Amino acid sequence: MKIAIASDHGGFEMKQALIEHFAKQGLALYDLGTHDTCSVDYPDYADKMAEYILSGKADLGILICGTGVGISIAANRHKGIRAALLYNKFVAAKAKEHNNANVIVFGGRTMTVPEVIEYCNIFLHSTYEGGRHQQRLDKLDKGE
Ligand code: RB5
Repeated sequence: MKIAIASDHGGFEMKQALIEHFAKQGLALYDLGTHDTCSVDYPDYADKMAEYILSGKADLGILICGTGVGISIAANRHKGIRAALLYNKFVAAKAKEHNNANVIVFGGRTMTVPEVIEYCNIFLHSTYEGGRHQQRLDKLDKGE
């Protein structure tokens, strides 16, 4: 699986910790920035991620800003992106099982590295259920 990761300055440290964690598991993440703690605008990183996912360069995206809220809003403005803010273990499972999220989102200032790693693992080991959930996902992407 190809995974891309991006953050604004509020998520930079969390992004670096996740890159290091996944590298130790043998999985290199595509790092779309930001590359330091200088202030940047989270929509720019959500847009980069959307382009990566929608063009098939990555199968899953991880986005991080301070709270996870702004970058979720920005990512979900792109048709075809289903960005889910994973804030507990139940949501981490359902975001895959029911929503088949293609971007998972975290708050660098509101969550700890161990809990984010746990939510990533739960999401990655869950399976999309399809069926009634697919008809709902189809409705998300219809129209303009
Ligand atoms: C940046 O200061 C902060 O507003 C941003 O990281 C995020 O929390 C927005 O939702």
